Amino acid sequence: MKILITGSNGMLGTDLVDLLKSRKSSFDPNLEFIEAPHEVLDITLKDKVSEFVSTHTPDIIVNCAAFTNVDKCETEREAAFNVNALGPKYIAAAAKECGARVIHISTDFVFDGNGNRPYIEEDQTNPLSEYGRTKLEGERNIQNYCNSFLIVRASWLFGHNGINFAAKMLELAERNKELSIVTNEIGSPTYTPDLTEALWSLINQGCEGIINVSNDGSCSRYEWAEYIFETMGYTIKINQIKSSEYKRAAKVPLNSTLNCQKFTTLTGIRMRPWKEAVESYLKNQK
Ligand SMILES: NC(=O)c1ccc[n+]([C@@H]2O[C@H](COP(=O)([O-])OP(=O)(O)OC[C@H]3O[C@@H](n4cnc5c(N)ncnc54)[C@H](OP(=O)(O)O)[C@@H]3O)[C@@H](O)[C@H]2O)c1
Repeated sequence: MKILITGSNGMLGTDLVDLLKSRKSSFDPNLEFIEAPHEVLDITLKDKVSEFVSTHTPDIIVNCAAFTNVDKCETEREAAFNVNALGPKYIAAAAKECGARVIHISTDFVFDGNGNRPYIEEDQTNPLSEYGRTKLEGERNIQNYCNSFLIVRASWLFGHNGINFAAKMLELAERNKELSIVTNEIGSPTYTPDLTEALWSLINQGCEGIINVSNDGSCSRYEWAEYIFETMGYTIKINQIKSSEYKRAAKVPLNSTLNCQKFTTLTGIRMRPWKEAVESYLKNQK
């Protein structure tokens, strides 16, 4: 099996490459993978994507490339559209040409967050931000332009190789005794090493369609930060604020928790609770 990973230098891409390296050395010498970081393959360049894919003839393309700065997407709309919507279209078309399957990563931000239960895959999408809108357009392009695809919607990613909420909390805790954190944004934190294991299972089982994957359970931003500080033994006074009091360019969903039952039914795997994932993150974070 030959796997091409776009955006392989990002937070998720780096962990996916690490997982494939360990699988190849310990279980599967026939596993081949091609790392394509941004500087090697810009997914917004249609001809380059087509040429790269036809040269390497992968069986599977995992698209980890994206414009992920949610607030910047509001002001850099064209760039966000090119990466999040057009890039997936070019990847899908190139994959169709060479018969490859596409595994595309999407987001809980395709939903408006007004629901009062975790979102299932079939729920109505209604993104509130440019990031969400461009990612949804990317999903549609994957669905429309390739023959075989899996779209994995994940949420609130945190890992060791990128900017994320958990890393920001650790950084802020070093310099502050008091912080204000939002209580009414609810979601499912997802540890990128856990997500890569989930992707590996989905790839091996040939799953298709749209599937939600996050760590088990949900919390508010406040509860997430509080658990990080508690586990680290930090004494931080946390002021509880509402999302509306935290000024940012993008509007974000208030409840974007994902229901991952479909993932569990298909793979037999239940993702571990988010608190356990946070503990692993804190233990392994340098
Ligand atoms: N982060 C989250 O909380 C979150 C939540 C739900 C879903 N997701 C989704 O999960 C996936 C992985 O996210 P992540 O957190 O790993 O993001 P990330 O750390 O920002 O990684 C994205 C990667 O894409 C690359 N990239 C940007 N523009 C590109 C282009 N034109 N061509 C090729 N590569 C390009 C970036 O390279 P440069 O840095 O060099 O530009 C970076 O290496 C994305 O699809 C994202 O939408 C993320």
